[in-house]
Amino acid sequence: MSLLLDRLRQETQQMHQQTEQLFYTESLRNGTLSPIQYGHLLRTHLAFHQALEIAIEHHPDFFREYNPQERLKTPWLLADLAQLNEPLSSPMPALFTSWTAVDLLGAVYVGEGSMLGGTVINRLLQQSTSIQSILPVASRFYQGYGTDTGKQWRRSGEFITQRGALHADAVVAAAKRAFSQFQEAFLSSQDRIMQK
Ligand code: HEM
Repeated sequence: MSLLLDRLRQETQQMHQQTEQLFYTESLRNGTLSPIQYGHLLRTHLAFHQALEIAIEHHPDFFREYNPQERLKTPWLLADLAQLNEPLSSPMPALFTSWTAVDLLGAVYVGEGSMLGGTVINRLLQQSTSIQSILPVASRFYQGYGTDTGKQWRRSGEFITQRGALHADAVVAAAKRAFSQFQEAFLSSQDRIMQK
């Protein structure tokens, strides 16, 4: 593992734990996640990934070897929310607009890392009777890259290292900001939960 990836893991570990706690961990683990809560998780990912994908599009040369088109999550999330008949998240168009390409590497780390946790969530969702009873097919987003998950994670790590090693402090600081933004996306899209 590169020095930069090592730093990213170490220095964002606490924020990862905080985020994991927010994510209805208890309900996920005991199989009682409600469809509304599941919709809330999807809306949070949608707000984050949609904004990140748009921001990356503004730096085509910098991100060419990242193969952004192969990594789009917005279509998966839209399909899952449509299946659930849940409203979409309010977009957060300003989320990454002032971020440099180097800063976006920190957000890519957070976004691609979320696909690792996604494999855990996918397994837990399959054990959740309330979700299974209403969904005809499994979550497209949480299936993620499927058997390619490890490969895609390694490739994104190589890309982040190649582009970001000389700017390590900026990438790590941006990854922390990205985790905060993700938490904010969760909190700001929970109105439907509060109404219940
Ligand atoms: C219930 C929710 C979650 C669970 C159970 C979970 C679990 C995990 C697990 C088990 C790993 C390590 C996988 C491995 O090393 O192969 C991981 C890595 C990671 N997760 Fe999560 N995760 C969750 C949510 C999230 C979210 C929402 C984000 C981002 C917003 C995130 C970001 C990351 C990152 C960046 C890594 C990579 C850490 C590294 O550098 O190795 N996770 N997660």
